[in-house]
Amino acid sequence: MSLRWRLFLLYLLPLAAMTLVLLVSLRNIAISAASAHMADMASMMPGMAADIEEAVAVGITQAVFIGLGLGILVAITASFLVSDRLSHTFTRLSRVSRVIAAGRYDERIEYTGTDEVGELVGAFNEMAERLEETENLRRELLATISHELRTPLSNIQGYMEGLMDGVVPEDPATYQLVYREAGRLARLVQDVERLSRVEAGVEPPRPNLLPAGPLVSEVIERIRPLFHEQGVALEKREAEGDLAVWADEDKLVQVLVSLLDNAVKHTPKSGRVTVTVEEGTGAMTLLRITDTGVGISAEDLPHVFERFYRVDKSRSQMGGGTGIGLAVARSLVEQMGGTISATSTLGEGSTFVMELPGGPPE
Ligand SMILES: Nc1ncnc2c1ncn2[C@@H]1O[C@H](COP(=O)(O)OP(=O)(O)OP(=O)(O)O)[C@@H](O)[C@H]1O
Ligand SMILES: [Mg+2]
Repeated sequence: MSLRWRLFLLYLLPLAAMTLVLLVSLRNIAISAASAHMADMASMMPGMAADIEEAVAVGITQAVFIGLGLGILVAITASFLVSDRLSHTFTRLSRVSRVIAAGRYDERIEYTGTDEVGELVGAFNEMAERLEETENLRRELLATISHELRTPLSNIQGYMEGLMDGVVPEDPATYQLVYREAGRLARLVQDVERLSRVEAGVEPPRPNLLPAGPLVSEVIERIRPLFHEQGVALEKREAEGDLAVWADEDKLVQVLVSLLDNAVKHTPKSGRVTVTVEEGTGAMTLLRITDTGVGISAEDLPHVFERFYRVDKSRSQMGGGTGIGLAVARSLVEQMGGTISATSTLGEGSTFVMELPGGPPE
């Protein structure tokens, strides 16, 4: 049975019940009142009481049925008006669901009300929006990955062709080149795997209350040899009053190492990298990594947290990174309830700030 008919019945049933009760009770009351009043006159004119009873009954029945007719008319109109909007919305909901299931994510439903149906439509549109976003990300990611795979693959292919044609010398240097390209491929696959694991939340963070200062010191000591090798100074600054962070230790260390690795990679000899631990607003703790390196242009800055984004695209050819370090870092920090952002001045240096909860959630 369609929604329209159901609504109509919903209006009609109480109307019918009310009519029945009204009819019976009105008839009884009116007849007994009239009968009592006419009791005396009845003796004068025999049969008159019965006539009056009959007339009252007919009058009441007519009035009630006219009322019922009008009621039905109103019920039909009301159910039509209400159900038309509802059934239109529901029909659209199921049509758009099918369209989305078929892979077209750009359809939305319009509904202006703020009632429960409006809420349902709102939730549906939000779901469609998320699906569209996910689908776009998936497409983008696939395109980027295949693009990234193409370069080392075609390099390997080129060297091999050269070897077969005898254009490229069969010496250790050539084998080294092929080996390096294969290594890039392997690293890329590894990185993609790592990124998808983090983004899918396969290993959700297990936060603990950690002392921020000692944790930073530990990471600094671990990575110091790399800085030493590059001739870059590394130091820690810590605000008063042992600050804590509510974070997963392994994951926070991973993020710090990634940020420090970036800092050292982009800071020339005799530069300086500083890690600062300070109190943020709203019970947050700030971890700030500042370098005196090459900096990032205002154009590139908004994109550095995107997957596979590298400012200097040619760096990858020279053994640079894949461009997923910051994407992974952002994903991890957000999973721990924090945020990460960057500021930079080209030629002067960059600062990456992590804001993490200073304690367990209330
Ligand atoms: N401290 C920094 N100074 C200057 N540029 C930076 C800094 N940190 C990151 N970048 C720029 O942002 C890009 C993205 O960084 P990200 O860590 O995501 O990738 P990557 O270091 O190139 O590779 P990966 O970390 O995956 O090995 C880098 O390629 C670099 O161009
Ligand atoms: Mg990196």
